[in-house]
Amino acid sequence: MAYTVIIPAAGQGKRMNAGGNKQFLNIRSLPLIIRTLRIFQNDEACTAIVVVVNAGEIGDMERLFTHYNVSKVQALVPGGKERQESVYAGLQHLDQAGIVLVHDGARPFIRQEEIHRLLAEVSDTQGAVLATKVKDTIKKGSDEQFVTETLTRDELWSVQTPQAFSFDMLKKAHEVALNTGFTGTDDASLVEYISGKIRLVPGSEDNIKLTTPDDIGMAEMILGKRKGDEHE
Ligand code: CTP
Ligand code: MG
Repeated sequence: MAYTVIIPAAGQGKRMNAGGNKQFLNIRSLPLIIRTLRIFQNDEACTAIVVVVNAGEIGDMERLFTHYNVSKVQALVPGGKERQESVYAGLQHLDQAGIVLVHDGARPFIRQEEIHRLLAEVSDTQGAVLATKVKDTIKKGSDEQFVTETLTRDELWSVQTPQAFSFDMLKKAHEVALNTGFTGTDDASLVEYISGKIRLVPGSEDNIKLTTPDDIGMAEMILGKRKGDEHE
């Protein structure tokens, strides 16, 4: 099934502590954002990529895309202060009906097989997200750090990207969120806010978001494990 993808890459990478946007970090001599984009570049079902970047980094990104032959990028769009604003900005540059994916620039280990399983699940619902079942017991805590509730683990999922939606549904969800001042920490939550049904699709623990310096070590491990496949 054909799809387009919005890649939010307009963060500051504060928790990575690398002195700049982590998208430019080399992971085994290949920039993080290029690792992520290559997966979509190589997927025939992906018809266009919109990358959302910091306004001051557009030139640097363009040079990288040329250097690494990432030819499917249809637009480089300046992002906003929050991720939600960045995705919204990206949406303005897509007019295709059909399925749109949103995928973090900072998740370079997504595999084509997972993307295609996600696509298969979104066709009969308004949205689908890759997720893994949580392994830890999750408790809610008060401001004073006392436990207020222990959640039922069987019902809990840790949600990743890509998240897939019909284009019209995602656009409407973002517009309602903007007009009502609703903020969500992922795109699915905006669709949930307008009562859209989101399917949970079991994903892989490897699909980490590179967030803190420890995650670089984890990335090395995943690459080691995958030695010889399409990412190397
Ligand atoms: N992102 C974005 N626009 C923002 C904030 C985040 O496009 N205003 C993107 C990031 O570039 C990243 C993804 O959203 O690919 C997930 O965000 P996160 O991991 O939080 O990255 P950063 O915001 O860059 O990191 P931090 O929160 O540590 O500053
Ligand atoms: Mg952030």
